[in-house]
Amino acid sequence: ALPTTFDRPVHIAVIGGTGLSQIPGFVPIASVTPTTPWGAPSSPILIIEHAGVPIAFLARHGAHHQIAPHEVPARANIAALRSLGVRSVIAFSAVGSLQEHIKPMDFVVPDQIIDRTKGIRPFTFFEGGVVGHVGFADPFDAKLSAIVQKCAAAMKGDGVVLHKEGTVICMEGPQFSTRAESNMYRSWGGSVINMSALPEAKLAREAELAYQMICMATDYDCWRNTEGGDVDVAMVMKYMAANSENAKHLVGAVLDELCKQENSDLVLAKHWEGSAQGAVKFM
Ligand code: ADE
Repeated sequence: ALPTTFDRPVHIAVIGGTGLSQIPGFVPIASVTPTTPWGAPSSPILIIEHAGVPIAFLARHGAHHQIAPHEVPARANIAALRSLGVRSVIAFSAVGSLQEHIKPMDFVVPDQIIDRTKGIRPFTFFEGGVVGHVGFADPFDAKLSAIVQKCAAAMKGDGVVLHKEGTVICMEGPQFSTRAESNMYRSWGGSVINMSALPEAKLAREAELAYQMICMATDYDCWRNTEGGDVDVAMVMKYMAANSENAKHLVGAVLDELCKQENSDLVLAKHWEGSAQGAVKFM
């Protein structure tokens, strides 16, 4: 059994989404489950070591993919990571493509989000006497995005396609969209669609974390008359499995880069310090 405590601060975290409930090739050295005022995280947080640097890995949907998108304890997840010392988060998500040129298996590093959740997920740390308002005009971290883009560019030879920007539509789910909705999202300029970018990205901002999502396209949702049909779970899982080698290489390359000494200020999210007006001390 792995140790259930870890006594060094961990600054970097990877959140794995559907089809990425572990990072193959990394050997965990501890498995910790911090308790938070918002409950327990989705799964025990695995501590892995990469180039001598500890990294936290959290499976968003639980170790056995047993937590639906609207049930993810996002506040506990973000608070638990922060309590370990985490300041930078790379979050993976399977997404549907809303654009012809974003093909299943492509990666997208989004720079915008449109919130189509229904307000039923607990979405803030700032309530019950704690008042705070964070800016969210740019929901992702441009510096982390630049690092991911650089790593993906180095993988081009392996046939990996990465789109450097895009708008994620985050819908409530768990049902997929209607065809009318899918077409409406296209008309809004949506690039991809998922059920998991929110409230995670908002909570990360409130916790003063640097946060960047990496989307992996698994389907064309239902707007396109795709051979093989409209999106279903089997399609998402099939493409996630087919893409797992690429995902693994990309995680490895991004972690290589983040673990470099020259990126230590970035990883500590110094540029986000104080952005939540100190409300973060409640974590
Ligand atoms: N995750 C993967 N594919 C999706 C889709 N088409 N809609 C919402 N979430 C998704």
